[in-house]
Amino acid sequence: MIPVELTINGKAVKKTVEPRLSLADFLRDHLRLTGTHTGCEHGVCGACTVEVDGQIARSCINLAVACDGAQVRSIEGFDDDPLMEKLRQAFTAEHALQCGYCTPGMLIAARDLIRRKPGADLATIRHAMSGNLCRCTGYVGILRAIQRVIGEPLPAEVAPAPKAVVAVTPSAAVPPAAAPAGRAGWTTLEQRIDLPHAPDKVWALFQDLARVAPCMPGAELVDYAGGDRARGRVTAKFGPISASFEGEASFRADPAQRIGTILGTGRDRRSATRAEGEVRYTLTPLADGKATRVVILLQFGLAGPLAQFGRTSLVQDFVSRLTVQFARNAEAALAGSTAAPKQLDTGSMLWAVVKAWLARLFGRG
Ligand code: FES
Ligand code: FES
Repeated sequence: MIPVELTINGKAVKKTVEPRLSLADFLRDHLRLTGTHTGCEHGVCGACTVEVDGQIARSCINLAVACDGAQVRSIEGFDDDPLMEKLRQAFTAEHALQCGYCTPGMLIAARDLIRRKPGADLATIRHAMSGNLCRCTGYVGILRAIQRVIGEPLPAEVAPAPKAVVAVTPSAAVPPAAAPAGRAGWTTLEQRIDLPHAPDKVWALFQDLARVAPCMPGAELVDYAGGDRARGRVTAKFGPISASFEGEASFRADPAQRIGTILGTGRDRRSATRAEGEVRYTLTPLADGKATRVVILLQFGLAGPLAQFGRTSLVQDFVSRLTVQFARNAEAALAGSTAAPKQLDTGSMLWAVVKAWLARLFGRG
């Protein structure tokens, strides 16, 4: 069990939870905030959408412990929000809900869109809302409701969203020197995982490339004979289309501060897309040294046809999924499991979400 402290809808919350508890289950089962719905529990349908540090996030694929120190806002936290009030009225006027199961997630995603892109046209609204699924109303009323509100000036009390496209969650656990700015145009994402093992044990795993590399879904070592360089491959699958980046990585580690850096470059032959990136991880002790927090700062740039994969929401969801599976695999490895690490479950539901995006990218439906 790991202690967490968050601010939920403006109130400080302190609990001790299982490391694998999702934020959605934390909100629903521990705090009785049942306005956050769970549908697919795979990060696909958007029913569980909440705000974490001002950015929308899928609470079913974010761990509660990874949100330690964060400000979380669930649908209940928008009761007095004037922009949400306008949206609620518009949803009613346009018959934009039937059973209402998708509605909390729809409302939070729509409010986020309106703050980020006031005045957006219908195509932009459709695109932005494509990660929220409704199985009974149909989308026409929902789109009309958002159109009603998006053309109006923002209520004075509601701040427009910052212009930055990419979410970077600052963390006190990352020393300033360990969080470089990254190159212009690169995507920067931060993930945190908590492992119920002492930092020395976790550090030893992270320094053992042959053990830790297979924990990352889709990653494999192609050529590694020890030392600080390796050739590897990372495969990302979405439905029937996959990209396989093959390339080189180099490693640096500072055992005194327990900070490590991996620099890598790779190329997907099929799409001729090049990738370059840096992963920086920092380990800090938790629970009197019995557990470890790993803060992972991922910065990368893509050049070529798959560069559109850098679209923030898709990448954030994908990286969240990768991180959760990596944490499970790392935990199993630390517990001495010899079973093959599990790969990412990218089933048909994920395919449904990215289908529209891929159709645009590859010109087929
Ligand atoms: S329940 Fe979280 S995205 Fe579907
Ligand atoms: S209103 Fe029923 S799922 Fe959307």
